[in-house]
Amino acid sequence: MKVIFTKDYAHMSRMAAKYIAGLITLHPNSILGLATGTTPIGTYQELIRQHKEEGLSFANATSFNLDEYVGLGEAHPQSYKRFMSQNLFDHVDMRQDSIHVPNGLAENLEAECKRYDSAIAEAGGIDLQILGIGRNGHIGFNEPDLKFASETHVVKLEEQTRQDNSRFFGSLEAVPTQAISVGMKTILQARRIVVMASGKEKAEAVQAMVSGEIQPSLPASILQLHADVTLIVDEAAGSLIDKRGSKYV
Ligand code: PGA
Repeated sequence: MKVIFTKDYAHMSRMAAKYIAGLITLHPNSILGLATGTTPIGTYQELIRQHKEEGLSFANATSFNLDEYVGLGEAHPQSYKRFMSQNLFDHVDMRQDSIHVPNGLAENLEAECKRYDSAIAEAGGIDLQILGIGRNGHIGFNEPDLKFASETHVVKLEEQTRQDNSRFFGSLEAVPTQAISVGMKTILQARRIVVMASGKEKAEAVQAMVSGEIQPSLPASILQLHADVTLIVDEAAGSLIDKRGSKYV
């Protein structure tokens, strides 16, 4: 795993945006795996700036988001579809029919999971997967478990995840209990992965992801098996990583 140590959130965001912008400049028809959460907001803002000021174009790119809450659709202010529209898609030249987010309102959730996996496969797989990491080591909504989930699936959200996300919903009760999340197969089949982490509350999960045992109780640890992962951390999130190790840059 390549690790890029940055100063703070703004620096981390610029580095991640540089990576993404570099890829779509070189390969305009890239398939992007995108993430929600507080972590990538600064990155998306920088990409929007580059679109408006420097002509960075998403017109030929395709995106697949990692996850969506069950029961929430675009009309709900806390849906991930709405999050992506507000924080990126409405401000760049991405085509609507190139944007994919799991449908949290699907009547048949199992069929929706299968449909989503097929759509990713038909598009040719993910060229670059962007990931945040939860305090409990989740990636997407792949929560700590007894085994790694391979395909897109419905997950029961952990109490800590619901608590972490309740800041957006006003109360814990309002946070959905389930989500649709792509599985580890989709993530590990991505040609490149960028993981971003900011803040000291992520430091332990980051350390375990980088050098802990690979185990489903720390889902992000599976990324150690991928050949092209770039971890971009700010000072606080990277504070527990052993910088002397030769595998870090
Ligand atoms: P955050 O979430 O970016 O809001 O911290 C990250 C995650 O839970 O994957």
